[in-house]
Amino acid sequence: MTHSGKKVCFMTGASGLLGGEIALSLAGEGYTIFFTWNTSEEKAAQTLEKIRWISPESRMIRCDVSKPAEISSAFAAFQEQFDRLDLLIASASNFFSTPLPYVTEKQWDCLVDTNLKGTFFTMQEAVRIMQKQSFVSRIISLTDISANLVWRNFAPYTVSKAGIQHLTKVFAKTFAPHILVNSIAPGTITLHPDKELQPIEDTINSIPLKRPGDPLDIIRAIIFLLESDYITGQVITVDGGRLLQ
Ligand SMILES: NC(=O)c1ccc[n+]([C@@H]2O[C@H](COP(=O)([O-])OP(=O)(O)OC[C@H]3O[C@@H](n4cnc5c(N)ncnc54)[C@H](OP(=O)(O)O)[C@@H]3O)[C@@H](O)[C@H]2O)c1
Repeated sequence: MTHSGKKVCFMTGASGLLGGEIALSLAGEGYTIFFTWNTSEEKAAQTLEKIRWISPESRMIRCDVSKPAEISSAFAAFQEQFDRLDLLIASASNFFSTPLPYVTEKQWDCLVDTNLKGTFFTMQEAVRIMQKQSFVSRIISLTDISANLVWRNFAPYTVSKAGIQHLTKVFAKTFAPHILVNSIAPGTITLHPDKELQPIEDTINSIPLKRPGDPLDIIRAIIFLLESDYITGQVITVDGGRLLQ
């Protein structure tokens, strides 16, 4: 059990492109990080190595968040090692296109079970620890601006992200005043040249601020929420103005 007095963050999805940058930055902000990965062990190990230069007590664990029993096991392992939970970052997510009317049950389950069910049970495990603590703690989930857009080829993904935004409000109201619960909805941050739905120039032209976001843009929003004591139940959009289209 670690009793260093340092703030501790449980984070899902730190083996992701944006997730890894968030975890590293939070270590830089003084947090010890306990993070999950699912299939990307090598990326997770690289991220942990960088984090440990700054925060040597940080750990990682494999966890498929679409399975609530694995989430419970990850939190049990967390509690064996740490005696406090200051921050949950719920970032684990799947994303792929599912054109209507050919969405399969397997695709639906993969997207909704990971993104929505996984986030719900992760948040539920976190609040069970947080509500016993005598200090204010925080939950920040990662959604997507597409929760507020009509993307005809992404219905299971977008409904899962819209669901997370609703959970943000329910948890914020239920667990106030000791737990502050907010979401960040990124626009286009990391570009995957092989996976983009349209030419990258078209994506950039659709953003009023004329550039994709940088992980730092999301990290700044997270730090803003960590420094705020009077914001809960909100979704902060960080999209270069793209929702204005
Ligand atoms: N990057 C962007 O431009 C962007 C834009 C809008 C919203 N967002 C949101 O921001 C968050 C972070 O994005 P990102 O770029 O880091 O995403 P990413 O690169 O696609 O990574 C996804 C992460 O989720 C994990 N994951 C997927 N399925 C899982 C499962 N069943 N159980 C546990 N973990 C699982 C992956 O773990 P493994 O790889 O280890 O399997 C990985 O760590 C996500 O919630 C995403 O929806 C990102």
